[in-house]
Amino acid sequence: MAKFLSVVLATTSLLFRLHVLEVALSQNAVETSALTHTSIVLPSSSAVVSAVLSATSTNTPLTSIEPSSTLSLTSTITAAPPLTTTTSFNPSSGPFPPVGSFPRDYSPAGLAKLWDVVGPVEVPPITTTVIPQTPIVLPSPPPALYPSFFAVAPEDILPDLKFPEGFFFGVASAAYQVEGAVKDEGKGPSLWDWANRQPGVVVDNTTADVVDLHYYLYKEDVARIAALGVNSHSFSISWGRILPFGAADSPVNQEGIDHYADVIATHLQFNVTPVVTLFHWDPPLALSAYYGGFASPNIVDDYIHYAKTVFTAYNGSVHTWYTFNEPQVFCSELAGFPFNLTLPNGVNSSTAQFQCSYYLLKAHAGAVKAFREMRITGEIAFKSADYVGMPWRANNTEDALAVERHAAFGLGIFADPVYTTGDWPQILKDTLPPDYLPRFTEEESKEILGTADFFAIDAYRTYWNAAPPEGIDACVKDFSNPAWPACNLEVMFDLNGWASGPASDPLSPWLQATPQFLRTSFKEYHRRWPTSKIIFSEFGFTQPFEGTRTPAELFQITEDTERTNYYMTYLGELLLSIHEDGIPVEGAFAWAIMDNAEWNSGLSARFGIQYVNYSSPTLERTYKRSAFALSEFFRQHLQN
Ligand code: BGC
Repeated sequence: MAKFLSVVLATTSLLFRLHVLEVALSQNAVETSALTHTSIVLPSSSAVVSAVLSATSTNTPLTSIEPSSTLSLTSTITAAPPLTTTTSFNPSSGPFPPVGSFPRDYSPAGLAKLWDVVGPVEVPPITTTVIPQTPIVLPSPPPALYPSFFAVAPEDILPDLKFPEGFFFGVASAAYQVEGAVKDEGKGPSLWDWANRQPGVVVDNTTADVVDLHYYLYKEDVARIAALGVNSHSFSISWGRILPFGAADSPVNQEGIDHYADVIATHLQFNVTPVVTLFHWDPPLALSAYYGGFASPNIVDDYIHYAKTVFTAYNGSVHTWYTFNEPQVFCSELAGFPFNLTLPNGVNSSTAQFQCSYYLLKAHAGAVKAFREMRITGEIAFKSADYVGMPWRANNTEDALAVERHAAFGLGIFADPVYTTGDWPQILKDTLPPDYLPRFTEEESKEILGTADFFAIDAYRTYWNAAPPEGIDACVKDFSNPAWPACNLEVMFDLNGWASGPASDPLSPWLQATPQFLRTSFKEYHRRWPTSKIIFSEFGFTQPFEGTRTPAELFQITEDTERTNYYMTYLGELLLSIHEDGIPVEGAFAWAIMDNAEWNSGLSARFGIQYVNYSSPTLERTYKRSAFALSEFFRQHLQN
């Protein structure tokens, strides 16, 4: 995935390996057309990056002829000034201090020293909470996308099937990706505030210092989603806003507590249910500097303390909680640059992911135990990600094993301990020695098993899996094999070379739209990790090349056809999954509420159902077609 550089590199090398695999298999009856397809589908990432950079720096003025629908979609239209976030500010920061050497100084001067590690930050154009002056009224919807003989309108998709009562129709976001105001009101730096300044980490050299400024614009943002009929918003709290130094013995930042209290109250005022994630990949930088963050056992108590602080502050106002977003993605990030510069002694790039997984599970379990002991009202789980694949070559035993390996290393690593066994998947224990993957004691297993009230899945796509060309056994025995330890390949095209689905933006090469596999996926989630309730906690799509367009092309940006098709087809399949397969899905959350800082892809890969004009000091939002389609789909399919 393009989320993190390490993952981009892994993907790039995986793509390379797919070529190898394909060449190996071509002797075995794969047609030449498959090779042609593959080379088209898999562009070189550096070519993509330079294309994006040159396109975003173009400053084309708005032409005088504009379709009237564009005018009705946005409040202000001016000629496009240059990107505020990239032109006036050059992000830079120094090396990470040697882990363990940083003094614990919880004074304002100590906080300033932490920010010195990050370097100068961009000052936002707005510095107080904005109260919208007028109610948000939805502009006129876009005309039909296609003739009805070709594609039905959102409200006509399976019109008689309804979502269960109380269904969450939601949008999703995460603090780092939307808030901006990165140093304001007492916030401590997160590791990403430092990482995004390291060379080559973010493809377009943007930070999240300002980004959507949701920190000050949340009232308008909540009003805008409420206007669509959205009834819930899944967002995360920034640990560093609540505890700038992160640690259990460090001071709480009252401004941070008050801020989220008002964010939550605003949601309730607009009848938008707040769904809160405690941790969406933004650990306090201080904890990495003090002891190596999630690669150290010290994280467990600090995280539990943070969780308790948040539970106490918002108990009664929030019902649905997540401890962690996609822990396997977060932990694998630690292995790669620049996070591998923040590891404590004794942990290295090979072991970091699994040490992190161990401590993170203990932190999760400890937080859920506290949640239950404190009698916090509501429900709690973590957000899983990834998919259970299908064997690339049907009836091929090795590919069937590859599917199991993919499921174990992707979803099972966290889902098995919490939902079914209290232990790591056997495949992991058979592959990874204990100095890589610490084993649970019986006591720990008991503490971890059952620490989720429902299953939440960020299910963006489903692919095939294949064995590496040298075979799974050979791979498992060879620590130097690039596919080790998971020893499976992700294949995004069938045996004839056809893609599993339409491609998204080249900056998210991991993502193709695969609605046809959604029902199979949900059956698998439910079969393997059964619960009485599933939340489809994130799904979304990057409209190809959207990030290369200038504000003058707004009327093209808002016409996000592929994203719209992605959402409509996924939601139709979701209805079938609920009605025909009996899968207990009780909510679906579109990623994302608006364009945002897409980790390593910065502002260049766009997931928003609303456009954000990053060239304007007021950062206006504009609904895209997909926002209307979602709104219309849910109006038809929600029960009152
Ligand atoms: C993550 C988001 C990310 C999105 C698109 C999800 O897995 O939770 O933070 O932006 O994927 O890559």
